[in-house]
Amino acid sequence: MTFRPPKGTDDILPPDSRRWRRVLRVFDDLAERYGYDLIIYPVFDSTEVFERGVGEGTDVVQKEMYTFHDRGGRSITLRPEATASVVRAYLASGSQIPMKLAYSGPMFRYERPQAGRRRQFWQVGVEYLGEDSPQADVEVIELGYRFYRAIGLDGLEVQLNTLGDPASRAAHREALVSFLEHRRDDLSEDSRRRIATNPLRVLDSKEDRSKLEGAPMPVEFLSTDSIDHYSAVTRGLEHAGVPYVENPQLVRGLDYYTRTVFEYIATGLDAAQNAVGGGGRYDQLAEALGGRHVPAVGFSLGIDRIVLALGEDSPPATALDAFVVLADEPRRELAIGLVRDLRAGKLRVDMEPGARSVKAQFKAADRRRAQMAIVVGDEWEAGDVTIRDLSRGREARIPNTAAAIIGHIQSGGESE
Ligand code: HAM
Repeated sequence: MTFRPPKGTDDILPPDSRRWRRVLRVFDDLAERYGYDLIIYPVFDSTEVFERGVGEGTDVVQKEMYTFHDRGGRSITLRPEATASVVRAYLASGSQIPMKLAYSGPMFRYERPQAGRRRQFWQVGVEYLGEDSPQADVEVIELGYRFYRAIGLDGLEVQLNTLGDPASRAAHREALVSFLEHRRDDLSEDSRRRIATNPLRVLDSKEDRSKLEGAPMPVEFLSTDSIDHYSAVTRGLEHAGVPYVENPQLVRGLDYYTRTVFEYIATGLDAAQNAVGGGGRYDQLAEALGGRHVPAVGFSLGIDRIVLALGEDSPPATALDAFVVLADEPRRELAIGLVRDLRAGKLRVDMEPGARSVKAQFKAADRRRAQMAIVVGDEWEAGDVTIRDLSRGREARIPNTAAAIIGHIQSGGESE
């Protein structure tokens, strides 16, 4: 018998995991260049962090959390998202603000699994803590956009909205609840339940879209401050060359947002799962967790969906630059030394650890998706190796030094 991964989870192996590695590296590199330090924090947290942070009325807290009591009787939840815990960690550290943090790791939500909707899924994200300037919103949105460009995701749309500050949110909520109460009987069961718990969420119900015409929108209740902030964000995005689409219906599913909210939509995916990332400003979250006032903005991007949207055609990075083929056993130490030197020269290189025929080693090089095979054989005596381009079948004899081999591979096998 073989065990399958639990429902809604995946084992991700090569070649798919190569695509993952490439995407994760691009994010890590870009976040570092924008000045975001790494944060590592527990995969589980006190349930209360999410109840207070994400919001009791949200689907995430009501229906989707993996919550259990540990052996000490504490209520523990596997993190369904990052932001609440990042703010908790920041408050616990007593660190100075502003602080720019990036993370990467699995999140857990008990959802109905389908393609792009998993029970364990991977998010990368950034949180810019302690800054209320619209420039921070622009930087965060731009960083996400540059990331999708860098990985080559086509058909990306940045959707933007503002929910206003707490006072405008409260006024909007009141008007919305009254609007929804009048139409209660026409609404779906989910929406009826949400009138009391999370009325904002009814606005992005796909099922009830047609019945929501004329519903009060957050934008109609904005304070002057919120309007100014939003205009500065849109101006900043224009300066940054980040195209966006305004979507007054965009409210996001988590309670902590104020002012700017945004989503990255992959237009090539099914509408139900086409948000490949989302985020916004959450100026009140630190206080909801019992801390001081910490204005902040951030995003999380869903790697499972991103890899899905990239599709099978996007080339997985070749696994190895070169595979060293040992033609005669007495030169094993030389071959091992060559592998070591090439790795030190930043090439991805491997060889077979046990004695195998040359034919078997070439097969292994193919199976491992190496770009080149380097044969260590008799030509070593003359200071050479034979190097074969495995996709083009071309062969050359070049000096056996790491520098010559690296130069040859980097020139795409053109130098002799
Ligand atoms: P979120 O919209 O709940 O926001 O999730 C962000 C992204 O994670 C989604 O756009 C989607 O790509 C991915 N995602 C969410 N759930 C699943 C799932 N079940 N399966 C696969 N992918 C999924 C947040 O989590 C906020 N923490 C974003 C944020 C950061 N706001 C401020 N800072």
